[in-house]
Amino acid sequence: MRIAITGASGLLGRHLIPRLVAKGHEIVASKHSRDIQTDQPIEELPFDLNDDDSIIHFVEKSDADLLIHSAAFSDVDGCDREPQKAERMNAVASGAAMDEARKTNMRLVYISTDYVFDGADGPYDETSQPNPINEYGRTKLKGEVAALRGGAQALVVRAAGFLGPGLPGKPTFAERTAQKILHEAPVKVAIDQKSNITPIEFLSEGIVELIEDGAIGIRHVAPNEIISRYEFASMLARLLGAPHDAVQGVPYAELNREAQRPLKGGLITQFPLDTQCPPLEKALEAFKDRYLSADKT
Ligand SMILES: NC(=O)c1ccc[n+]([C@@H]2O[C@H](COP(=O)([O-])OP(=O)(O)OC[C@H]3O[C@@H](n4cnc5c(N)ncnc54)[C@H](OP(=O)(O)O)[C@@H]3O)[C@@H](O)[C@H]2O)c1
Repeated sequence: MRIAITGASGLLGRHLIPRLVAKGHEIVASKHSRDIQTDQPIEELPFDLNDDDSIIHFVEKSDADLLIHSAAFSDVDGCDREPQKAERMNAVASGAAMDEARKTNMRLVYISTDYVFDGADGPYDETSQPNPINEYGRTKLKGEVAALRGGAQALVVRAAGFLGPGLPGKPTFAERTAQKILHEAPVKVAIDQKSNITPIEFLSEGIVELIEDGAIGIRHVAPNEIISRYEFASMLARLLGAPHDAVQGVPYAELNREAQRPLKGGLITQFPLDTQCPPLEKALEAFKDRYLSADKT
């Protein structure tokens, strides 16, 4: 297939592209502010979530069979701070991309989040009722609706808490936590915020499996383990050889974050994949060995 992908330079995009190329697919990647760091043979087209003409141009010129829409304003606190920007980039832009893709019968894959749920009584499966409690979740849910409207051949993939390597100047959650453990301990981490932590390799392979199977509708792609941020940070501290009191568990409310987050959250699925996720501790150990070298922490 010829596959157009937005958010190609992002954490997920960078991991999806080589896996799709390895399966023989042609890739047309969106180009925004960063270089797409890949040695894969891909085509690039400009794409800006803030500009409908650019969105339409990208989808039209890609001449693709399938569109993976992964680009987003993914800063959860930033979305609460700038709700209009979140609405534009996550809701309006998704509508424009999906509507344009539908005109030429492209298959659609929209990447969404566990933050569409309120976290009152998770974990949640594909039949659970979304009820977002922050602007990020609200605007991403509008993107889901845009993908699924009109009975399109659309797949919505919900995922949670990516574990993977960041870029210079844009560390990921795990990298930021490691930096704090090593240099700013004791680190306060929420003891009551629970969800899945998803190795990006597993998520990318799971999405490729769903695409190749022709899956449509809503699918949750997440490992079985659901843990608190405190348990995650403690596991990371152990692997980094930090003292046991380097991580301090506190209620989420004490962290004074700008946006509310689902507390009893996390994703489960009614549609298990063939792709298997390693236990989190193993995945985290591999992540630490590969990416948390001295110069990065
Ligand atoms: N990260 C998580 O833990 C997580 C969890 C659940 C779901 N998700 C969802 O998964 C998807 C991918 O997340 P990610 O972590 O891979 O994202 P990311 O690393 O933050 O990358 C965001 C991507 O969006 C692009 N982008 C940002 N602003 C843009 C604009 N104005 N116009 C065009 N492109 C723009 C960025 O391009 P440039 O870098 O070139 O500007 C980048 O490629 C998102 O839809 C997110 O909502 C993420």
